[in-house]
Amino acid sequence: MGRMQDKVAIVTGAARGTGAATVRLLAAEGARVVVADVLEEAGAAVAAEIGSEAHFAALDVTREADWKRAVGETQQRWGAVDVLVNNAAVLHMEALDETRLEDFERVVAVNQRGPFLGMKSVAPLMKQAGRGSIVNVSSIDGMSAKNALVAYAGTKWALRGMTRVAALELGKFGIRVNAVCPEAGSGDMLSPFMPEGVDPELAAKYSQRILSSQMERSIADKLDDIARMILFLASDESASCTGTDFLVDGGYLAGFRFKQTPGG
Ligand SMILES: NC(=O)c1ccc[n+]([C@@H]2O[C@H](COP(=O)([O-])OP(=O)(O)OC[C@H]3O[C@@H](n4cnc5c(N)ncnc54)[C@H](O)[C@@H]3O)[C@@H](O)[C@H]2O)c1
Repeated sequence: MGRMQDKVAIVTGAARGTGAATVRLLAAEGARVVVADVLEEAGAAVAAEIGSEAHFAALDVTREADWKRAVGETQQRWGAVDVLVNNAAVLHMEALDETRLEDFERVVAVNQRGPFLGMKSVAPLMKQAGRGSIVNVSSIDGMSAKNALVAYAGTKWALRGMTRVAALELGKFGIRVNAVCPEAGSGDMLSPFMPEGVDPELAAKYSQRILSSQMERSIADKLDDIARMILFLASDESASCTGTDFLVDGGYLAGFRFKQTPGG
């Protein structure tokens, strides 16, 4: 018996990266999964690879009409929406005083309005069913900061706040809402912003080494680690967990390690 047996999950941004790792794992644990993304070819390929327990939905998370259609179709196809994973996001890296308003607003639209519309769209069905789990994928950048991330980090902090409000409002209906804060993600998100010749995987490792972590994990392994945390929160195993953050950060936020001092 799988850990997600008889559950139906919608995962946004599931055509690649963390979202794709998540739908593969949820399906392997018995869930029926909606692979939702704007990348139609890649999303349909992920759904086809999983098989008949997966369905691709073209969903732009910024559009309320897309949410209505995707949630309605899921309800019709599989009779329920037990889990929503708000994973889709976009990155923009630029100095604060050079960031154009339209770039700022594009990031807010996907990373913040998207999860708002997602939670709003599934809440009535989950309330009716008297159960549900919503997992919002934030980031270590929603708990700390980096230069160049005024838009992105802002949305990731906001998502943690929205998670708490939703958990407080929906808890009485048996619906849990949590945030996952990963340190890592797909290189596809980072690579458009890397200076030419810089390998995003190496860059990520380098920044991690300077800070705190000693974890030597490949990006693919880290995506699986994040997916496993999402699986835990999506499943009934996390029945006592709601309204909080779950870090998957390899010790990134634990602090600094100074090599030259005792214990370093
Ligand atoms: N990449 C990282 O280093 C990193 C680190 C920490 C947290 N995260 C978070 O992890 C999550 C997954 O990101 P990833 O690393 O897999 O990156 P990714 O870019 O590979 O995946 C994001 C997915 O979201 C989709 N998407 C973008 N805009 C959309 C829209 N309007 N509607 C629907 N789908 C849309 C993309 O097509 C893509 O498939 C995100 O929430 C991200 O903020 C990423």
